[in-house]
Amino acid sequence: MAVDTPGPDTPTPLATEIATGIATHGPMRFDAYMDVVLYHPTGGFYAAGGRAGARAGDFLTSPEVGPLFGAVLAAAVDQWWDAAGQPSAFTVAEVGAGPGTLAAAVRLAAPRCAGVLQWLMVERTAAQRAGHVDRLGAATGLPGHGEHPHRTPTRTRTGASASAGPSDGGGSSWCRSPTLPDDVPIDVVVANELLDNLAVRVLERTSTGWAEVWVDVSDGAHGLVLVETLVDLR
Ligand SMILES: C[S@@+](CC[C@H](N)C(=O)[O-])C[C@H]1O[C@@H](n2cnc3c(N)ncnc32)[C@H](O)[C@@H]1O
Repeated sequence: MAVDTPGPDTPTPLATEIATGIATHGPMRFDAYMDVVLYHPTGGFYAAGGRAGARAGDFLTSPEVGPLFGAVLAAAVDQWWDAAGQPSAFTVAEVGAGPGTLAAAVRLAAPRCAGVLQWLMVERTAAQRAGHVDRLGAATGLPGHGEHPHRTPTRTRTGASASAGPSDGGGSSWCRSPTLPDDVPIDVVVANELLDNLAVRVLERTSTGWAEVWVDVSDGAHGLVLVETLVDLR
């Protein structure tokens, strides 16, 4: 099976780079291949494609459809804050935050806990993290762990601008990070459409036992093509 080619005659630069690497160093395990095609800093899907989270793109996630998903999550965040005894600081880490659409919808929904809410968008792709600044003015890291976050007056449930306060919807802070920090207290971790974006190993049961999918190259009509190959695990 040929993979990662936009057409039979025109492999992408990344496909060519991968194929050359495999020809030089040998086959790649599928998870390594999946990681590079999604997250290569220039040629990967999220960095170069620009076709995620758009109606004319490759797929559309629930937060991208409209603000309702974020409003529902905002209500859930208030419930978790209530259940925690309405602490004076409440930190939500959103892992795999994409360009910040869900966070923006949560802010728009003005949860009751907004005055004490710190929302940390954890996103490994730099091109996606840029959206956190554009949409939310997000700073890097949490207070005391990097820059100070951008604390925004958000609208109240009646739509008026408000100062910070746990019941008036104002003063939430919006931050971003490429990784989930392990040295800051986080109250809730949320993620939407993350797990299917983690690089996976692929095993196949064959007539002789378990095998693993790797990616190799083969000679095609127009040069090297990427092909699946099975590695016997016995
Ligand atoms: C399908 S998008 C979902 C974006 C957003 N949550 C939504 O529902 O629209 C998956 C996102 O997870 C990010 N991602 C994948 N692995 C990650 C990791 N280990 N840490 C942080 N972000 C990750 C990707 O860069 C991508 O932006």
